[in-house]
Amino acid sequence: MATVTYENASRVYPGATTPSVDKLNIEIEDGEFLVFVGPSGCGKSTSLRMLAGLEEVNSGRILIGDRDVTSLPPKDRDVAMVFQNYALYPHMTVADNMGFALKIAGTPKDEIRKRVEEAAKILDLTAFLDRKPKALSGGQRQRVAMGRAIVRQPQVFLMDEPLSNLDAKLRVQTRTQIASLQRRLGVTTVYVTHDQVEAMTMGDRVAVLKDGELQQCDAPRRMYDHPDNVFVAGFIGSPAMNLMTLPVADGGVKFGSVTHPVDADVLSNTGDTIIAGVRPEDVELDDSGRGLPVEIDVVEELGADAYIYGSVEGAADTDKPFVARVDGRTPAKEGRHDLLHAQG
Ligand SMILES: Nc1ncnc2c1ncn2[C@@H]1O[C@H](COP(=O)(O)OP(=O)(O)O)[C@@H](O)[C@H]1O
Ligand SMILES: [Mg+2]
Repeated sequence: MATVTYENASRVYPGATTPSVDKLNIEIEDGEFLVFVGPSGCGKSTSLRMLAGLEEVNSGRILIGDRDVTSLPPKDRDVAMVFQNYALYPHMTVADNMGFALKIAGTPKDEIRKRVEEAAKILDLTAFLDRKPKALSGGQRQRVAMGRAIVRQPQVFLMDEPLSNLDAKLRVQTRTQIASLQRRLGVTTVYVTHDQVEAMTMGDRVAVLKDGELQQCDAPRRMYDHPDNVFVAGFIGSPAMNLMTLPVADGGVKFGSVTHPVDADVLSNTGDTIIAGVRPEDVELDDSGRGLPVEIDVVEELGADAYIYGSVEGAADTDKPFVARVDGRTPAKEGRHDLLHAQG
């Protein structure tokens, strides 16, 4: 097991004018599950591949433990990668697929067998060891790909969107399994996904990237409650936070007829307006005439919750509808209501 350190690590692809990963700095703890998340093209896979040794680091360094691996070939880094498409050999059995890297490395046969059987047990694959990949379900193939990484007993696991080929239900099950397996094995893991829910549910910490730049790296709850910038605020959370440009007045921010107090040091760094964020679950509907008038256009019922979409007085400058998450058992009707800050 080991720590992983990115030190000002940058990658500029040949012919590119801007870096795909720009001076990345992260220290990943021994045994930690770190997730890179961000929109398509933000540099997640590149960051991971730089650590794997599959992509050159143009400046800066990458360390595993206290070993500088920046210019080591992949095979000398002691990492194991799980790819999106699993890359299983179709003509080999599950057992041979899982043991293949060990065979190449010259590991004795009975040692390979022992490790493959152990991994198969952990992954619930014992009954499938003699099958070929085509005789497996998508979820089982995914577990074989995991098994192949586990038998190598690497210092670091690297996973690039390993759930993206599974259907929605299996993806949710498998993400729980991977997270619990990682905690059991205690192996430092760097995981890439574009799905912020996956990132939030699986990671000890989440690193949000945008345009090759790290925006914030924090524990999920910290990230949710204290986003460092507007991008992170809007990216993390579903439905997304309502972000509104609101006027500054009387030492606070004016939302409709209500003025919410804002820290003086924030106000001193801003002009006439401020970008304010309201989480969909932080408001509730009320018809007592005390709140902000809201005109609801659409009600989406999901069962436990309902999402309402509408326009709020005083937030008319936004092009997106205001979203609120309300009780699904007694969802609101379309039309005019009052919006209040949720209690508790
Ligand atoms: N082999 C490559 N050659 C040139 N540009 C690349 C290559 N791979 C990725 N890129 C570019 O680098 C950026 C980051 O890509 P990538 O790391 O694959 O993003 P992500 O995994 O977050 O979707 C993108 O703009 C992409 O077009
Ligand atoms: Mg990618």
